[in-house]
This record gives sequence, C-alpha cells and structure tokens, in this order.
Amino acid sequence: MSKNKKTFFIKINGKSYRAKEGQTILDVALKNKIFITRLCYHPDTVAQGSCRLCLVEIKGKKGLFTACNTQAEPEMDILTDSKNISRAKQTNLELIFTEHCEECADCIYKYNCSIKEFAKENKVKINKFPDRKKDHPVHQFGPALIFDSKKCIDCGICVDICKKVGACFLEYEKKGDFYEVTPSSDPKKDCIYCGQCLTHCPVGAFEGVGEFESIEEPLKQKDQGKTVVFQFAPSIRSTIGEEFGMPHGSIVTGRLIAAIKKLGIENVFDVSVAADVTTIEEAKELIERLGDKKASVPMFTSCCPGWVKYLEFYQPEFIPHLTSVRSPQIIMGGLIKTYWAEKNNIDPKDIVVVSIMPCVAKKYEIERPEVMIGDIKPVDHVLTTREFAQLLKKHKIDLKEVKAVAPDPFISAPTGAGVIYGASGGVMESALRTAYKMITGKKLPKLELKQVRGIEGFKKAEIDIDGKKLKVGVVNGAANAQKILDELKENPKAYDYVEMMACFGGCIGGGGQPVPVNDEIRKKRAQGLYNIDNRKNIRMADESPFVKTLYKEFLADHDNVHKTCHTTFSKKEKEVHPTPYKK
Ligand code: FES
Repeated sequence: MSKNKKTFFIKINGKSYRAKEGQTILDVALKNKIFITRLCYHPDTVAQGSCRLCLVEIKGKKGLFTACNTQAEPEMDILTDSKNISRAKQTNLELIFTEHCEECADCIYKYNCSIKEFAKENKVKINKFPDRKKDHPVHQFGPALIFDSKKCIDCGICVDICKKVGACFLEYEKKGDFYEVTPSSDPKKDCIYCGQCLTHCPVGAFEGVGEFESIEEPLKQKDQGKTVVFQFAPSIRSTIGEEFGMPHGSIVTGRLIAAIKKLGIENVFDVSVAADVTTIEEAKELIERLGDKKASVPMFTSCCPGWVKYLEFYQPEFIPHLTSVRSPQIIMGGLIKTYWAEKNNIDPKDIVVVSIMPCVAKKYEIERPEVMIGDIKPVDHVLTTREFAQLLKKHKIDLKEVKAVAPDPFISAPTGAGVIYGASGGVMESALRTAYKMITGKKLPKLELKQVRGIEGFKKAEIDIDGKKLKVGVVNGAANAQKILDELKENPKAYDYVEMMACFGGCIGGGGQPVPVNDEIRKKRAQGLYNIDNRKNIRMADESPFVKTLYKEFLADHDNVHKTCHTTFSKKEKEVHPTPYKK
C-alpha cells in the first residue's frame, strides 16, 4: 500500500485503531489481531464476500456488513459480536453445510477444519438441512487432482486463484437457481495441475489423486520383495514440520531421513543432489545457447511440470525455449535405476522409487512418456508433503519426537545451490553461480543473487558476467509467465534466461504442501532454505564431491547424460478428464 494513503481512526469493539484509505474492516482487524470469523477470505485472492461469516455491525448503519469487502471509513464504530451477528452467522453456517457433504475421514483439513470449529463455536447443527449436493460428481484432472463438487461451497476462491495462476480452467456455471464451480468445457482451457485450487480451497473440496487411498502402496511393494527407495525434494525440509506443529520454516532434514528409515526404508536420497546435476547441465546449455546465433534465446527453466504443461498447452510456439534438462526428481529417479542400481547389482525392475514432493503436478510428471529411459520409469510413486505426513501419522511416527540422523555423506550430500531450488529464483541462482564460473573461471564475487530472491511474482534483473549483462526474469504463477511471453512477442531479445514456476513462491508454495498457506508462511519456508545454503561449506553445484564422482564414473559417457539428464517436450491437446471419478 502506498505510503501516501490517508490514515484515520476507526473503533472496533470500543477501542480506537489506525486505518489506511483502501483497507477493509477485516484488514484493520487482522492487523490488530482482532478475530473475525471468515471462510471465503484468502489474502492471495480478491475478497469473495460469499460465505457471509465475517459479519459486523456498524453503528448508525442498518443491517450487517461483511468485514472482508467493506472499506474502513473515518470514525466508523464497529462491533464484531452481537446477538444479531450470532444469529445471522448461525443461519449462514447452516446454509454452508447444506452445500458441503462432510467426508471428514479423508479430507485434507481432517486435523484443522475451520467450518467444524465454527459450527462448534456457534452451536450449529451441521445436518439441520439435507445435503443439496449429494449427487454432484467427483471430477479427476489428469493423474494429479480430484475435485469433489459435493464438498464445494461455491465460494469462488478456486475460480479466482485459477485465474490468478493463469490457467482459467475452473469457472462458474449457472445450474438452476445456483452458480456452481465447474471445470471448463472450453477446448482451449485445461488444468495445469499446479494444485493452487487445493491449497486455497477452505473446505477440502480438492485433493491430490490417491491422497488418502494410495499412501501405503509403496510400503506394500517393499513387502513383496522389491527394493523400495525414497527420495525427497529440496523444499520438503522446510515445510513438513508444520504438519507436526513445528514453526513455519523449521528445518527437519535429519528428522525426515530418520522418519523414512523408521518406516523400514533403508535407502533415502536427497533430490537436492540431483538438483546439482540439473544446475550443471542447465548452465552448460545456457552458455551454448548464448553462443549460438541460431539457438532459441531466452532459455526457460523446465523443472516445474505445471509451468511445462502450461507452455505445451497454451503457448506451444515457445517450446524450443525450454531447457532440455530433466527436473531433479526425474534425474534422481533415473540415476537410482541406472548408476546406483548397477553399483549395487540390483535389477532396475526390482527397484521402486518413491518421491516425496511439494507438488501434485509431480504426479503427472512421472507419467509423461518423455521421461522414460527405454522401458524404465524413473519414478514409480509420488507422495505429496501432506500425504507423507499422513503416512507417518498412520504409523504413529511424530516428526517432532524423532531423533535426527545424518544423511549419507556421499549420495545424500547436496550443496547449498541444490537446496535453494525449493524457493522461487533458486534454480536460476544455482545455475548462474555455476555458469559464471564456467564462463569466467572465477566464483561470483557474491554468491547470493538477492535480485532474483523473494516471493514476488515477477522479478527482473541484469547480472554482470565479465562485462556482459545477462538479462534475467524470475516469475511464479503462469499468468506472470504469460506476461514475459507477451513481452517476448514484442521484443524477442528482452531476456536471456527466465525461471518460471507455476506456484506462488515456487515449490515452497506448491500444491502438495501443508495448508493453510499465505505470503508470510511462504517467506519463512524460503528463508529456511536460504539459511541452509548460508551455512553450507559447499555452495556451488560443480564442487559437490558426489557430482564430481558421478561425472567421472557415469556421466562421462554422453549416452548416459542424454538418457538420464535430458528430455523432450511437445504440443499438448486438452486432456480427457474422467468424470465422474469413482473413489
Ligand atoms: Fe467475508 Fe466470507 S470471509 S464473506
């Protein structure tokens, strides 16, 4: 908010508070830690004003007002609690429950359900009226997402967030007397599987495919004599603690490894190690492209499958700009089933690779035929952060109580550059640290590229590499990526290198991460990763002992580099999403 905005005072429950022009009553209340019940409000979206639970009275004005979309005005005198407010809130909650079929046992809000809390506080009978939507369909969006319209209260947050992301796949449709949320039937609109609808829905109407049904699947395969290995993404170490009541941004790498081992899994790999490989390959490709007049420049990162799906579906003419380097999850899975399998004399067909990922789109990524290595599928299962936490809870393993173990010093020892992949700007920062060294033979004077850090959706910078200015862009949210694509249509030389992520804040804000989430939480999660990087002795991907050995023993062979580290992309048509989906 601009510093020049006028300030004034309002009263809430008899006490005076400073407000700024443009703030809503809820903004002022939240800033001053005054609780107002709210369901359809999320700071990432425009106020929906649809649940009508944030009711307040304004002295001198008739009726009740929704605090989330009523502007504060000088000398307003506001009450957040009264008999009228309670009665109206009660009725509105009862109406919300006619929209929402409760399926609490398999809901992502099983342990922190707002509407159940509100019902308790307001003494509301949750089944006073029959469920209006009990025959509504359950939709499946590709191998990534489930949308159960029986649970949807049509508040519109998902529609707004889907638009903000840039997919515009969810929309309102008039059905009889109601407007209801529905997937678009427009052949030009498709889901990009980012899962932001899921992390923003206040009532758990969205979930990952298999989120409650398949979490035990990998362990069953262990019992069938397979070698089951787990790998975890860079961002998980600073997010999963939240599921166990730890503060946002707590770093739990050692506890995470210990918890996986408690499940009986011997082999645990840190995907940040493969991020170091992605960095080296991507830095090499960037340098090659910049030196080749015929190559497609700018180069775009490609490790976010939601962003890749967006580009392949919505803007396929830009596909040649995507780096051919595989994402860290796919590189790690491929290396486990080739390099590691050979070293340990295990048939790759007997290895089951399970990823713990921040993202539901990673469930889609492992099914892409382009990632196969001959007939080997690099990764067999993806569990989101939430799913893995649920698996631990089912096995009565409390991450808070687990004693941390040290990671394998060789195969699970990433550099700081590999760990920061989880935050928006991290992929670019890692690649530029190495590219700078490859070009100049020296280390960057300052390894921290603060210009590309931060959770803002759109960052631009110029990085000086030996007198040459490299024009870079870092965006999160496909709508911001679209702004860059539009800029490039006007000026193809506007950028040299662009990092794109579909989710707000990058992987730390991914669709598979704990809920709820907002900017404050994203900042703390990202800071956790930067703190690790700061403390690492090795902060350059090319200086990792594992990576050096890998390039000597395995990636010296061009064929091995090609099959484990690179992939292809192609134009995608709208997918057929099976509806109704049967659980
Ligand atoms: Fe204000 Fe829902 S939070 S109407």
